[in-house]
Amino acid sequence: MGRHRAAIVGAGHTRFGALEAGPRSLLRSAVDGALGSVDRGVDRAPIREAFLATLGFGGWQIGNASAVLGEESGGAGVPTTRIENACASGGFALRAGVRAVHDAADGLVLVAGVEKMTDLTSPRRRYWLGVSGDTEWERLAGLTFAGVYGLIASAYAARHSTAREAMAEVARKNHENGTRNPNAHFRKRIARADVLAAPRVADPLGLYDCCPVSDGAAAVLLAPADRAREYTDTPVYVEAVGAASDRLAVQERPELARFPATERAAAEAFRDGDLRREEIGFLEVHDCFTIAELLALEDLGFAPPGGACDLTLSGATSPGGRLPVNPDGGLKAKGHPIGATGVSQAYEIFLQLRAAAGDRQLPGVETALAHNVGGAGATATVSLFRRG
Ligand code: COA
Repeated sequence: MGRHRAAIVGAGHTRFGALEAGPRSLLRSAVDGALGSVDRGVDRAPIREAFLATLGFGGWQIGNASAVLGEESGGAGVPTTRIENACASGGFALRAGVRAVHDAADGLVLVAGVEKMTDLTSPRRRYWLGVSGDTEWERLAGLTFAGVYGLIASAYAARHSTAREAMAEVARKNHENGTRNPNAHFRKRIARADVLAAPRVADPLGLYDCCPVSDGAAAVLLAPADRAREYTDTPVYVEAVGAASDRLAVQERPELARFPATERAAAEAFRDGDLRREEIGFLEVHDCFTIAELLALEDLGFAPPGGACDLTLSGATSPGGRLPVNPDGGLKAKGHPIGATGVSQAYEIFLQLRAAAGDRQLPGVETALAHNVGGAGATATVSLFRRG
């Protein structure tokens, strides 16, 4: 990708949760927030291109992305592309935005994500969550999305004896982090014992091992790196974005408890970015289920196989630890409006690296990594960021 090709100069975010608003007004709020956050202000005209990440959950297709985002952002006439890569739509939209900045020259690129999910009945939600996985071998056979991750968690726990306790700690930590995020779906503390005692969703995963079904939107504005300071004194540079895909059906992969797409995306990001793992200040990882945070730590190369359990149980991934993970509450507590999630991770990184994250500010962080997964490891992006 090349060094410092793009910089985030503004970011906006709605609350995540069960919200009254429909997707268009959520999108408008996030985009308005991003435009309004640019320190030196921005005339809307300089937006040269836009990308909209959304799955269209429940049939909430908001129409032709170009027209809708143009109307809601005041950027009518701007070419816009909708990106749909399941739960990794936001990460892939960010990647497309970073590449498009090259052609934007004197302008900005808008990357937004939105999803409306909560107005469906439980069976319809299950149906729509399943569309991100394999249809022929998984969904039509009755396997739910939580069920796929339940199988992955079982395979992992069979090898690593402290896995169940570590998953409970992921939920406890991320719920604790969510209490400090005003945008989080859940702002409720739970104990590890609550996680272990919760009703089963897909064995061994219980209610608190799952991310919720949420509504919400997020947006970031990208500028060419060499012009970022025209907009703000504190841009956040996107060092690199790696991306990869894998077989869709998990049964066609050699191993359940490992996502090669994450490994490949991370290898690309660390190859292209001017950062080493030891230099990363904190991580935003795709913890759609608690097991996914453990896998992420290993697939991203921050722990050896099984080592994510000790790392998590040692407190290293808590805000005061040596490698904080998901200080905004992660998908687990902040919520997971599918198309918005990857963009929301960039929003959190923008705040943290500018020391603007309020009660949840991590001390002295200068670099970060975002990891966004589509389906159960079928697609993945890994992005590296550095404070300007
Ligand atoms: N974590 C914590 N609490 C949760 C929760 C979650 N993930 N999901 C729901 N709750 C709470 C609700 O707030 C509600 O609490 P209340 O009774 O105090 O109001 C209660 O549990 C019941 O909520 P409801 O919405 O009826 O739950 P549900 O049984 O329909 O759904 C799950 C629960 C776990 C099945 C659902 O959240 C889910 O499918 N999550 C996974 C989403 C997913 O797969 N996303 C894509 C991943 S990449």
